[in-house]
Parts: sequence; C-alpha cells; structure tokens
Amino acid sequence: MGEGRVALVTGARGMLGTDLCPVLSEAGWRVIGADLGEFDITDAAAAREFVSGCRPSVIINCAAYTAVDKAETEYHTAFRVNHRGARNMAEAAAAVGAALVQISTDYVFDGSKEGAYTEDDPPNPVNAYGLSKWLGELAVRVTLEEHYIVRTSWLHGLHGKSFPRTMLTLAQPYPGKDVKPLRVVSDQVGAPTYTVHLARALAVIISKPCYGTYHAVNRGCCSWYEFACEVFRAAGLAPEIIPIPSSEYPTPAPRPRNSLLDTSKLARVYGHQLPPWQEGAAEFVGLWRESH
Ligand SMILES: NC(=O)c1ccc[n+]([C@@H]2O[C@H](COP(=O)([O-])OP(=O)(O)OC[C@H]3O[C@@H](n4cnc5c(N)ncnc54)[C@H](OP(=O)(O)O)[C@@H]3O)[C@@H](O)[C@H]2O)c1
Repeated sequence: MGEGRVALVTGARGMLGTDLCPVLSEAGWRVIGADLGEFDITDAAAAREFVSGCRPSVIINCAAYTAVDKAETEYHTAFRVNHRGARNMAEAAAAVGAALVQISTDYVFDGSKEGAYTEDDPPNPVNAYGLSKWLGELAVRVTLEEHYIVRTSWLHGLHGKSFPRTMLTLAQPYPGKDVKPLRVVSDQVGAPTYTVHLARALAVIISKPCYGTYHAVNRGCCSWYEFACEVFRAAGLAPEIIPIPSSEYPTPAPRPRNSLLDTSKLARVYGHQLPPWQEGAAEFVGLWRESH
C-alpha cells in the first residue's frame, strides 16, 4: 500500500507507536520511528529539521503526554506536548508536503450523550488531558488541510501501561502475596482498543487521501468491570472482583461516563472495521502470558 514511501512515526517507542511501526512496514511503507531521543515535538525548529531530513509522505503523531491524572497538575506540560507539539508536527508536515495523522481520544467528549459519539458531535472535555488533546486537534485542523484526526479509546498493548496489564498484575497469585478483592468501576462504558488492531486501521486510513476526522475503536462496548472480567476469563484467573460506582473510586481527573465512539464513518469511507474488543483482549492476554 505504501509502495516504498516514507512514513514517520513519532512516539515510536510508546505503546501504540511500538506496534504501529511493524504494521506499517508490512503494509509496504518505509518506516522511520522517532521518539524523545530523536527530537522533541514541542521544539518547532527541531521538528522541522528532523522532518525535512527524512521527507515523509505521511507523519503519524503518536507522541503525546498521556498521564491523564497527572495532567490536572502538570497541565503546562500536557498542553505543551498535546497542543503545541501537535501544531509543530502539522507545520513541519506542511513544510514538506506531507499528510499528518493526529491520534486523539474519546476524552474530548464529556460523556453525557446517550449512545455513541459521532465525529460531528461537539467536544466538551471534562479534564485537562482531554482539553489538551482537543486543542491539539484544532491546531492540526487549522494548520494543515491534509490531515486525519483519529480518535480512539481505552488503548491496551504489550508495550506500555494499560488497564488489563494492571488488572493481571494485581490478580496474579504468587507465594506470600495476599490477593485482595478487586474493586472495579462499572458505571463508565467504552470500547477497549487493542493497539495492533488500531495500527492496522491506521495503515488502511493512510492508504487513501480521504482526509478528515475518524473514530477507530474495537467493536462493541463494556464497562471497566466487564473488561476486567473478560481479561481474567481469557487469562484463566478467577480473583474476587466487585463492581463499584465511580463515586467510590475518585481520581484527580474526572472521566466521561460514556466513552462510546461511533465507527460507522470508518466503515463507510474505508470499508474497514476493527474486530470485537474481546478479540483484542484475548490477543493481549495471550502475549502477556507468553512474556510472564
Ligand atoms: N493510552 C490510551 O488509553 C489512549 C486512549 C485514547 C487515545 N490515546 C492517544 O493515543 C496516542 C498514543 O498513546 P500511547 O498510549 O501509545 O502513549 P504513550 O505510551 O505514552 O506513548 C507516547 C510516546 O510519546 C513520547 N513523547 C512524550 N512527549 C514527547 C515529546 N515532547 N516529543 C517526542 N516524544 C514524546 C513518550 O515518551 P516518554 O514515554 O519518554 O514520555 C512515549 O514514547 C496518544 O495520542 C494518546 O493521547 C491513548
């Protein structure tokens, strides 16, 4: 699909970036991966210099400040990376005539809608991270016509911190460890999305210049509690697990109650759908078990 053209992946050593690079290579792209060691996306001159050195056809910006709770206090850093960094990448792309994929999030929405959010629903973030990501989207939209904004949710992959990894670590029995009952929030719903499945969707998206905003998440939906139950079922573990309301698990950053993203635009424009979320959870657990 990429026919030997160059794709630059920023945040290449993060959870999504690590899985995205090989998927793009398999799709025929010559992939250049960059992370903080290569250049800092908040440094406009460094971004321009790096991009003009490798002259990509497309940049997939997976670099981000992703610590949702810490962003409530470290908002200067969150905004610098997620807003200014996204703008810098759009400007650097414009300078070499490249397209840009900006990865965004369900957290741009406030969660008050009944049913899944479409790409046309108005964002209204309820936390600093969500606001920084929304500003990043806006900066990309006004800077570069040839952009794709791809919103996803509840990411999990082998190469980073994620909810299923935390659950498996907490539930793993070992001698002398007291496995306490796990209390997991059951009144927030979303679509757990496996990074490899998202990476394949991104390869499809950049194969055609159908620019715009897309929602890309695994099919179906569940609560965090149901997600945890499915992960334990796949792992053959049976810890005691108790569903609780969010009010019993206060976090510095409030989360939207409803994180559901409607993916029908992706299906309509590209004829592509991600697999059911349970398949992503099963693949994740399979690889996690091999590595433990
Ligand atoms: N994780 C989720 O549940 C989730 C959900 C929805 C959307 N998203 C979005 O999906 C994308 C990928 O997320 P992820 O979970 O893969 O994130 P991640 O694991 O935190 O990876 C982000 C990468 O970007 C790097 N980075 C941070 N600041 C940078 C800078 N100034 N310049 C260059 N690189 C920088 C990080 O390096 P360090 O690790 O050294 O800081 C890290 O390698 C992000 O846009 C995120 O907002 C994530």
